[in-house]
Amino acid sequence: MSIKETIANIFPKATDIPKEYSIPEIHQKEYLCDGKLLDWSGAVQEVISPVCIKGEKGTLPKKMGSYPLCSEKEARAVLDAAVKAWDFGKGLWPTLPLEKRIKHIEDFAFRMKEQRTLIVNLLMWEIGKNLKASEKEFDRTLEYIFDTIDAVKELDRSSSRFTVVDGIIAQIRRAPLGVVLCMGPFNYPLNETFTTLIPALIMGNVAIFKPPKYGVLLHQPLLQAFAECFPPGVVNTIYGDGATVIGPIMGSGKIDVLAFIGSSKVADILKHQHPAPHRLRSVLGLGAKNAGIVLKDADMALTVKECISGSLSYNGQRCTALKMLYVHRSRVDEFLTEYCKAVEKLKYGMPWENADITPLPEAGKTGYMAEIVADAKKNGAKVVNGDGGISNQTFFYPAVLYPVNKTMRVYDEEQFGPVIPVISFEQIGEPLKYVVESQFGQQLSIFGTDPDEIAQLVDPLVNQVCRLNINCQCQRGPDVFPFTGRKDSAEGTLSVSDALRVFAIRTLVAAKETALNKSILTNIVRERKSGFLSTDFIF
Ligand code: G3H
Repeated sequence: MSIKETIANIFPKATDIPKEYSIPEIHQKEYLCDGKLLDWSGAVQEVISPVCIKGEKGTLPKKMGSYPLCSEKEARAVLDAAVKAWDFGKGLWPTLPLEKRIKHIEDFAFRMKEQRTLIVNLLMWEIGKNLKASEKEFDRTLEYIFDTIDAVKELDRSSSRFTVVDGIIAQIRRAPLGVVLCMGPFNYPLNETFTTLIPALIMGNVAIFKPPKYGVLLHQPLLQAFAECFPPGVVNTIYGDGATVIGPIMGSGKIDVLAFIGSSKVADILKHQHPAPHRLRSVLGLGAKNAGIVLKDADMALTVKECISGSLSYNGQRCTALKMLYVHRSRVDEFLTEYCKAVEKLKYGMPWENADITPLPEAGKTGYMAEIVADAKKNGAKVVNGDGGISNQTFFYPAVLYPVNKTMRVYDEEQFGPVIPVISFEQIGEPLKYVVESQFGQQLSIFGTDPDEIAQLVDPLVNQVCRLNINCQCQRGPDVFPFTGRKDSAEGTLSVSDALRVFAIRTLVAAKETALNKSILTNIVRERKSGFLSTDFIF
């Protein structure tokens, strides 16, 4: 079958969907507030899958169900529940011994594990992520929870001691910050919500989380577990239009930490809504336009393999995706030939078929892809892979654009989809200039074999981005590595251990080294009168 025919017939009939991957409609009628699943009978948002189904009336997007479109009233109620649970730091959760908080998190993780099949199916249907990647997102998230538990124990062990300096005895620990608002992105709706929510909770904060616009229903199977595994008000959820529900929450000034993964435009709006922005701590994962630089002596087979996966895994919808490829002029023809061959060999289809390229969840996304391709063509680029850019409803066949130049939208815009801009260069200064002038500063990949040339690039580039990948695509993992960015790409650093620090503040109890103070501290510690002043070890 030709590519055109494949794409024209990409969507299945209802009878083609394997039973194990079909899902019932989910009409979520509740939100989690103060430990209770409260009924919602107001307006709802219909959830439409990016997967379309061929039927008698044509090929139509599958209806998956609906979720509440809460109003300001519910937003204020979840905020009040969180503020009450925090209770100026005196609440049950922030004062609970760490060992007990860990137990609650473990209970939740075990309950979460039971929902794996349903959540993986919902990830496939709701955001079009393929089976393998959806399973990976789920398993990676669970692993992250257990790694966080190990890391927090280690952190606690290193704080379970007194320090004496210049005649002052002190015990230094990390204390929670308060009420955290967690908002994850649509491309990693489970993982990137939980990589902030779990560390925030384990450190003793309370949370409100709002799922992204696409990727809401997949959290529904966890609501009961949240309600039963945590004390009232510790985890609360809210759904609906951001301006309606998040505006009042931020505007109240009662949010202490904003954990947001999404666009810098939305992050700026949220931060400015807080009446005392200096009091708000933020951890933000924002946009990126990571470049891949292919040097003249690059190992072409390896380079193409990494660039394909770097630019097209999950259809290019990763903040870490390679979104601009600079190739040395002497190798550009070879690169384009091999890259386009590899694009043709990818599997195109539905998420449960483990296709490499699947339908796109965002409304109007294929239209946007077509727009930036048309703009590039108008300004001198060609679509160099024969059928590149053809589409069918929510499905877009990758378009490889060459030669790209700075007059084109795709030069600066973060395409976040299956469009691959390629530029050739003669002097290394050309891609370096691109990186320096970019508004983003997340990661970069260099492909080459000469240690001298690579060494000369490392030092200037590590001051432009926060991770330099040699002969490898850009990526976040392993999750113990720091994940951050410069310029418009991030604020704060996330990793298993860094996230614990983000959601806590260093706090100490200090006393002059006098006989009286020594006896007071000894008495408190020996008789376990304080949770903070303690030398107990968690194993
Ligand atoms: O969308 C951004 C993600 O954090 C990228 O994670 O590199 O593991 O796909 P990843």
